[in-house]
Amino acid sequence: MKQFQSKRLAELGSAIFSEVAQWKKEVADRGIDVIDLGIGSPDRPPSQNVIRALQQAVSDPAVYGYPTSEGSFSFRETVAKWYKHRFRVELNPETEIVTLMGSQDGLAHLAMSVTDPGDTVMVPDPGYPIYSASLVLAGITPYYLPLREENEFLPDLDSIPPDVAEKAKFMLLNYPSNPLSAVATLDFFKRVVDYAEKHELLIVHDLAYSEMAFDGFRPPSILEVEGAKNCAVEFHSLSKSFNMAGCRIAFMVGRQDVVQSLRILKSNIDYGVFVAVQRAGIAALEEDMAGSRSVAEVYEKRRDIVVEGLRAAGWNIAKPKATMFIWARIPEGWTSRQISREILYAAGVVVIPGDAFGQEGEGYVRIALVQEEDRLREAVERIGAFLQNVKK
Ligand SMILES: Cc1ncc(COP(=O)(O)O)c(C=O)c1O
Repeated sequence: MKQFQSKRLAELGSAIFSEVAQWKKEVADRGIDVIDLGIGSPDRPPSQNVIRALQQAVSDPAVYGYPTSEGSFSFRETVAKWYKHRFRVELNPETEIVTLMGSQDGLAHLAMSVTDPGDTVMVPDPGYPIYSASLVLAGITPYYLPLREENEFLPDLDSIPPDVAEKAKFMLLNYPSNPLSAVATLDFFKRVVDYAEKHELLIVHDLAYSEMAFDGFRPPSILEVEGAKNCAVEFHSLSKSFNMAGCRIAFMVGRQDVVQSLRILKSNIDYGVFVAVQRAGIAALEEDMAGSRSVAEVYEKRRDIVVEGLRAAGWNIAKPKATMFIWARIPEGWTSRQISREILYAAGVVVIPGDAFGQEGEGYVRIALVQEEDRLREAVERIGAFLQNVKK
């Protein structure tokens, strides 16, 4: 019998996410009130200003034609202004920016546009799942960079075998990171750029969480490093920074030939982002430049509730400087999957087992701060009670 499911589909993602969804359904079917801290989907809407811009735009008959796949010039021009404002980096909207239907769109297609089957690419472990899935789609051999706590979850560049460094096409990095909520400094990026120059390597940096940082920390762009535009591209998303996940709008900027390659691939696949959504994106970036309050404040409070609450309950977890996630090292005697399952069945709280993001994630769970404060307090209380029970 002919099979209508390609072999590559089976290699795409970790099966753990569907397993957790199945657990959640079983628990909810028992009538238990489930608090979902699993998937990192923003729970709040965009600002009123952004919603109004979208409403006005959809009333304009001019927005209903095909958009251009690289995005409107006015969106790219606003991106360039925002980059200058936020990172003091100059970008040419004509050649150094491509608009995306979410950064997932760009991350999924980048490998196909800049590599050939059989090439090698370095990706982080643990890492956001599309990084390795995009390599499966492109027929690429992954080299996993282990990210470990003792190294502040940064890759140890010196431990990469020289032959891997020589043959690899690009290295993918993500700071602030999902799932680790680790951050990087500009000094680290300088070392990465030196390394990239030495090995003629492209650096692909995913900066999806640039505006979600706490305690006064402002995540840097790798493009702030002098000369980085020769060896790096960077992804940004309006999904998290401006609560626009459902709008599907993001962009990639940096090295011109890489921007060009992604544009060419995308011009064969899609016709770009709905113009009305691009106008809403412009409104969001302009509002940010005018100094409106960022989403960070909301998540900083949520982080404090969860970290301090769980610490008081005896679970000594690290306090992240950024992102909507807590990467919690689990108590001795459990696997990530066992404890996630137990927290769901006993406390009704969904968390994601760390190994869903790669084998280095074993020993951790990811908690997403995607509920309002009262629900988070409730989740902390329930997890605290669970921890007390298992101690007895
Ligand atoms: C690190 C990271 N990159 C990219 C994305 C994709 O975001 P979007 O496609 O909504 O821009 C996500 C979403 O969770 C993410 O966590």
